Amino acid sequence: MKYHIQTWGCQMNEHDGEKLSGLLSAEGFESVETAEEADLVLLNTCSIREKAVHKVYSELGRLRQEKERRPLLVGVTGCLAQQEQAALFKRAPHIDFVLGTMALKQLPRLVAEAREGKARVMDTGEYPDNHLFPPSVTQRQDTAKALVTITEGCNHACTYCIVPTTRGAERHRPCEDVLAEVRGLVARGYREVELLGQNVNSYAGGCTFADLLERVSEVDGLEWIRFTTSHPMNFTKELARVLVTNPKVVPFLHLPLQSGSDQVLKRMLREYTVAEYLERLGYLGEGRSRMTLSTDLIVGFPGETDDDFEATLRVLDEVAFDGSFSFIYSPRPGTPSLRLKDDLPMAEKSVRLARLQQRQLTLTRASNERFVGRTIPVRVETHGPTSHGWWLAHSGEWKTIHLAVEPGRVPPFGELVQARITLASPHFLGAELV
Ligand code: 5AD
Ligand code: SF4
Repeated sequence: MKYHIQTWGCQMNEHDGEKLSGLLSAEGFESVETAEEADLVLLNTCSIREKAVHKVYSELGRLRQEKERRPLLVGVTGCLAQQEQAALFKRAPHIDFVLGTMALKQLPRLVAEAREGKARVMDTGEYPDNHLFPPSVTQRQDTAKALVTITEGCNHACTYCIVPTTRGAERHRPCEDVLAEVRGLVARGYREVELLGQNVNSYAGGCTFADLLERVSEVDGLEWIRFTTSHPMNFTKELARVLVTNPKVVPFLHLPLQSGSDQVLKRMLREYTVAEYLERLGYLGEGRSRMTLSTDLIVGFPGETDDDFEATLRVLDEVAFDGSFSFIYSPRPGTPSLRLKDDLPMAEKSVRLARLQQRQLTLTRASNERFVGRTIPVRVETHGPTSHGWWLAHSGEWKTIHLAVEPGRVPPFGELVQARITLASPHFLGAELV
């Protein structure tokens, strides 16, 4: 059996793809690069916005044609699988099995049943130990940093968000488990880990998230720790202190704001006001000047007025985020925001999004320009130059680095090298290997 996994969505989903891949490899299956070469295609889906869902259905359409030509097993997993469950079989009858996000370890059983000819095989159960996935099984992509689950699920209830439905309530991995995995990763040569959760800073696996960062940082040989993603209400002074003082925790914080208007935040049930968000950023003190900050913003949430939107632009400027991810509000099935009146024309929402993204571009360019002339450590992420002649790397601040390397020199994959920043574009920094 040859299998191909196509993954959409966040790092959590990407990491689920690595776990699923490990399960199939343990069965003796072989991973292949394309769906065309595969006997089994697994679509590891995202449903955060309608666009993500469209991509899945269009790939399912393509696979239907493929399946008419030759034997092929098609499985759907990830957030759309958890959300739609059996309804997926109605919409796309050529799907052989559906695997929910909280039942990953059931994959081999589902594949076996589908191979025996059983139709419409499904498991979308909530297995309480899903987050205790054996690290030895996970088959990691060839990346310079290793993804490590610390919590799954989310206990917040933002009115626009499908994630509490698709990922369930919070489950925390015991601290010792996390530490054991990180030690194993370092022994295998990884120097950087990214701790994952829908809301990492509500971590409660035997210690606080701030404590977990400190304990992970004590692992010898580990150089950098990142984490994603955080909720402002769980951002504590203690966490800010660790961020600012622990040399292994990278100087980068992604803290989703969503809107700069208190009225909108209230309807989103974000549990904070703009002032409270800013107060929490203030916990970083003067250490903040050495860090980069990014955020998520939703434009055109039901009832968002011109004034609300202008307030968002003002906060964007005030914080001067180094980067932001912004999206037009996308109504999701079963979410509470569906009940809110949403009468703003899509054309107006698009104009707002374009304005916000233009504003961010200016801020990001300024943020990048501040790096020009500095020499900073960056981690090499490619085994050779890309087709453009650069090597790819990232800095601790999560700046994308296009690294120029003299012929004959080979910066080691996954290691830190010194880079002199020579050029700033809005999307990357040009640098020379020192
Ligand atoms: N519509 C638009 N954006 C959304 N996000 C989450 N749900 C929605 C939605 N229904 C955004 C939020 C979140 C990011 C991961 O995706 O900004 O932080
Ligand atoms: Fe997409 Fe959210 Fe699911 Fe990640 S958790 S795959 S972003 S819907």
